[in-house]
Amino acid sequence: MDADPASLELTAAEMRTMAEAVLGRVIGHVATLGEQPAGSPAQDGSELCRRLREGPPEAGTELGELLAPLFEEWIPCSFNTPGPGYLAFIPGGGLFPAALGDFVAAAVNRYTGVWRLAPALVQLEANVLDWFRQWLQMPPTTRGLLTSGGSLATFSAIVTARERLLGSRLRDGVMYCSTQAHHSIAKAARLAGILADRQRTIEADGRFRLCPGELEAAIRRDRAAGLRPFLVVSSAGTVTTGAIDPLDVVAEICAREGLWHHVDGAYGGFFFLCPELRPALRGLSRADSVVLDPHKGLFLPYGTGALLVRDGEALRQAHAASAGYLPALPEGEMYDPSQYGPELSRPYRGLGVWLPLKLFGAARFRAALSEKRELALLAAERLAAVPGIEIVAPPELSLFAFQLGRPGASPQERNAATRELIDRVVARGRIMLSGAMVGQKFLGRVCVLSFRTRRDRVEQGLEDLREETAEIVGRPGPLS
Ligand SMILES: Cc1ncc(COP(=O)(O)O)c(C=O)c1O
Repeated sequence: MDADPASLELTAAEMRTMAEAVLGRVIGHVATLGEQPAGSPAQDGSELCRRLREGPPEAGTELGELLAPLFEEWIPCSFNTPGPGYLAFIPGGGLFPAALGDFVAAAVNRYTGVWRLAPALVQLEANVLDWFRQWLQMPPTTRGLLTSGGSLATFSAIVTARERLLGSRLRDGVMYCSTQAHHSIAKAARLAGILADRQRTIEADGRFRLCPGELEAAIRRDRAAGLRPFLVVSSAGTVTTGAIDPLDVVAEICAREGLWHHVDGAYGGFFFLCPELRPALRGLSRADSVVLDPHKGLFLPYGTGALLVRDGEALRQAHAASAGYLPALPEGEMYDPSQYGPELSRPYRGLGVWLPLKLFGAARFRAALSEKRELALLAAERLAAVPGIEIVAPPELSLFAFQLGRPGASPQERNAATRELIDRVVARGRIMLSGAMVGQKFLGRVCVLSFRTRRDRVEQGLEDLREETAEIVGRPGPLS
C-alpha cells in the first residue's frame, strides 16, 4: 500500500489482489453452504461478542488477517439463512449475481438519489420497478421505490395513504389489519404517526385470514365515534401460517368506503409471477399499494424491499422535497428516487436487482417459485401422513404450519411436543425450522423459499421429521 499516510488509494494491482482474496473466501463459503449445518450455531454468540469488543484501530491490519476470523469464526456463528436446509422464518437465499451487482454499485459509487447525477443507472432502477408493476398487473400510473426491506416500504405506503386521505388531521385517522398481520405494519404505522389507539386488529377466521364482516363492523363503529377510517392492510401471505387475506373482498370494501387498500406482499407477492397461483392472490392487482420483498421472493441478498403505489403521483407528493443547492428536478417522465422516498443519499439498490433479472430472465424466477410451491405441497402431504402430525394451515403458497399431538393430549402438551420436535429436528443439522405462537397454539412452520432448497433436501427433512415424531409420539407416558 501507498507509503503516503494521507493516501487511501490502492493501485490496480493491489485492488486485484485484494478482490481475489475476498472472492476466494466468498466462493469457498458459498459453494459449500449445503455441507454447512442447516441450523443455528451451537453457541449463542455472547462469549464471542464479548471477545470481539475493542477500541478503534489506530493502525491498519493485513486483509488476510481480517478475512481469516471473518470466514472461519464470525460468519459460521450465525444462522445458515442462505443454505438449502433453511426452512425457518422466511428463508433468504442471496443470488450470487445480485452480490456482484451490489459490489459494482458500491465500487463505482455513483449517486443515484438524484436522477440528474446518474440518469442511466436510475433508469435501470425505474425499469426494475416497472417490471414489478407489470408482473402484478398494476396500471402505468403506478410508481414505486426500492427500499432496504419490507418494513420501510410499508412505512412509505402508510405515509402516502395518510397524506392522501387524512392531510393534517392525523389523530382522527384509523387503520385496520388482521391479528395475523406482520408486526412491522404496526411499527411502520406508529412511525408514520398512526398511534396504537388508532390501529384496529381484526379477528381472523379458522384459516387465519382477515374476516371481512368484522372489518366492516369495525369501520362502522369508528365512523359512529366520529373517527376517520382511512387504511386497511391485508396480507398476501402471513409470516406465521402463510394465510392470504381475501384481497378482492377487502378491495371491494375499501372501494365502497373510500379507504386505501395496502397489501403486504413481502412474503407472497412475487408468487403472482406464477399463473397457477394468481387465483389465490386474486385482488392483488387492485391494491392502492403493495409491498414486495425481493430479498425474499426474488431470492436476493438482504437489503432490498420494494413498494408499488397505484397512484404514483400520491407517492411523489408524500415524499417530494427540493433544495436550492440541488440540480433541477427531472422533467415529468423521468424517475427521481429522492422524490418518491424518504432517502436522499442512498445505496444504488437497482443494480443488484437488475443484474440477476437480466442474467436469468423472469421465466427462471417463475420456475423456481413454482418449484418451491410444489416442494411445500409435497412436504405438507407427506407430513400429514405421519401419525401424530396435524397440518393446521396447509400451504396456500410455499409455507405451512403443523402441530404434533396424540389423542387425549392437552393443548399445553401439544405445544411442548411441537417445540421439542422442532428442536430435535434442528439438532440433526439437515434442516432448520422455526415455530410461532398463533393464539394459544404453538405451531411448527415449514417455509420453502430459498432457491437452494431442492427436492433432495426436503426429502431429508421429512425423514428427520418422521423419525423424531415417531420417537416422541411412541414413548410411554405423557406426550411431553
Ligand atoms: C409478511 C411480512 N411482512 C413484512 C415483513 C418485513 O419485511 P422486512 O424484514 O424486509 O423489513 C416480513 C419480514 O419477514 C414479512 O414476513
